[in-house]
Amino acid sequence: MENQFVLFGNQIIERDHVSIDMEDRGYNFGDGIYEVVYIYGGEPFSLNEHFRRFEESASKLDMKLPYSIEQVKEKTAELIKANNIHNGIVYIQMTRGASPRAHLYERESASLITGFARKMDPPADAQEKGIKTYLTPDIRWLRCDIKSLNLLGNTMAKRIAADHSCGEALLHRDGICTEGSSSNLFIVKNNEVHTHPATNLILNGITRQHIIEITGEEGITVNEEPFTTEELQAADEVFISSTTMEIAPVISVEGAVQATYPIGSVTRRLQEKLKDRIKQHRVHQ
Ligand code: PDD
Repeated sequence: MENQFVLFGNQIIERDHVSIDMEDRGYNFGDGIYEVVYIYGGEPFSLNEHFRRFEESASKLDMKLPYSIEQVKEKTAELIKANNIHNGIVYIQMTRGASPRAHLYERESASLITGFARKMDPPADAQEKGIKTYLTPDIRWLRCDIKSLNLLGNTMAKRIAADHSCGEALLHRDGICTEGSSSNLFIVKNNEVHTHPATNLILNGITRQHIIEITGEEGITVNEEPFTTEELQAADEVFISSTTMEIAPVISVEGAVQATYPIGSVTRRLQEKLKDRIKQHRVHQ
């Protein structure tokens, strides 16, 4: 069977042997955090950046790691190897562990780290042909900078998008575009890139950070400023980014505003440069 080895605590064991307590706080309260890292040619991409954010999410939620972040990285590498992943993802989460259900958490509680790895190819079709999106209100809490397990606002939005035959939901808060349900959002206007600043209202994506660095290298102006749904509608190009998608062009938006977009030269250039970074990373391993 595929994906048969998982990380449970600090051990790599068979998936069938996992037993999670009914009162794990992740299960009862969504009290936990996670990261998704892409594996290219057997090597995780931007592992250090992902685990820096993992530590930041833990600290913002007053959670302690049960062992060092270096050990988490080692266990992640073991997990990838055990499952013989060439291209795919590794998912690592940490909950505040098990205790009799009560809203009040104890700071001493023992966190539980778990993870799995899965084979997956980058979504070539979406990257090439682009995706349709649906713009809907951002109903999430005010700490979207934390990669927490609480994803109801995201999953509900994704369902709404799928119900309109769209591949991603774009979110807006009172007319300001924030991000996608599982991606960051960029628009291009007059060859300049615009994206929401890395505040509490979005997740500061690792892919987003690569893109911003690339725009610097390429001499493309990037404006990390809030932009409106009207500006989204009037954009020359639109694209989204994430670990699993890299960069996907957006070809249309429906819902709160409607527009269609060409797949433009700025999007294509950034896609290509991000692929170059990924290739280089593999050479340097
Ligand atoms: N999601 N914003 C949200 C709300 C996300 O869930 C994600 C990624 C991103 C992009 O972040 P990054 O570039 O670091 O992947 C932005 C992951 C892939 C997921 O939940 O599966």
